[in-house]
Amino acid sequence: MKVFVIGIAGGVGHRLAKALIAKGDDVSGPVRRPEQIDALAQDGVPSFQGDFLAMSIDELARAMAGSDAIVFTAGAGGKGGAAATTAIDGEGPGKLAKAAIEAGIKRFVLVSVFPEAWRERHMNESFEHYMVQKKRAEIDLVQSDLDWVILRPSALTNDPGTGLVDLGLAQVHHEITRDDVAATIVDLLETPKISRIILEVTGGSTAIGMAVEAVARSAAKP
Ligand SMILES: NC(=O)c1ccc[n+]([C@@H]2O[C@H](COP(=O)([O-])OP(=O)(O)OC[C@H]3O[C@@H](n4cnc5c(N)ncnc54)[C@H](OP(=O)(O)O)[C@@H]3O)[C@@H](O)[C@H]2O)c1
Repeated sequence: MKVFVIGIAGGVGHRLAKALIAKGDDVSGPVRRPEQIDALAQDGVPSFQGDFLAMSIDELARAMAGSDAIVFTAGAGGKGGAAATTAIDGEGPGKLAKAAIEAGIKRFVLVSVFPEAWRERHMNESFEHYMVQKKRAEIDLVQSDLDWVILRPSALTNDPGTGLVDLGLAQVHHEITRDDVAATIVDLLETPKISRIILEVTGGSTAIGMAVEAVARSAAKP
């Protein structure tokens, strides 16, 4: 399988690309800074210099041509103000979805966020704007004809992966390691039966493979 990863130099993206390469898959994806190409290459992860905001839909379609799936795990990360969050988190997935359609690629995994994430902590305006933009991106994908999966992880940590998650249509928002999110995406990519579904994932008690298999079983029910 060849996977085009948007956000390949990021926390989840880098881990995902490494995990895919380790199991013999191919990956590629754009990075904004040249030094990120070298850092990824040290883990055997190929990438190229590119900014999906600056690239046209045609250019993105050409860059992803030949891939079997797209994973969007990019984000403004609170940098660049509201405009960057709108363009990257809000409009980015819709733009990439159009490129995927042009390139004839159906499978598209979007990393999103729990709608209630830390809302009880009365987050600031910029966080609320981020939440609105993530939902907007979900809508673009849900309204497309793609074979999409939206994965909403709870708050991300850099702790070592546990291999254990709670995965399903609705989960209690807590925390999950970026390693475990990456491992969940790997299994989702390998389970085509899971399609056109929004899933929430958080650190939990079920082995990732079994959790994904359980979702596949319930997705197959009439
Ligand atoms: N943080 C949380 O607790 C949390 C919770 C739930 C969901 N999420 C979502 O989970 C996903 C992964 O989060 P993360 O913390 O692993 O991400 P991250 O480390 O912030 O990585 C995001 C990557 O996207 C890249 N990027 C942004 N705009 C780009 C562009 N125009 N062209 C190319 N690359 C671009 C960034 O590039 P640069 O390196 O150049 O900045 C960065 O490497 C995000 O979608 C985030 O919204 C996060």
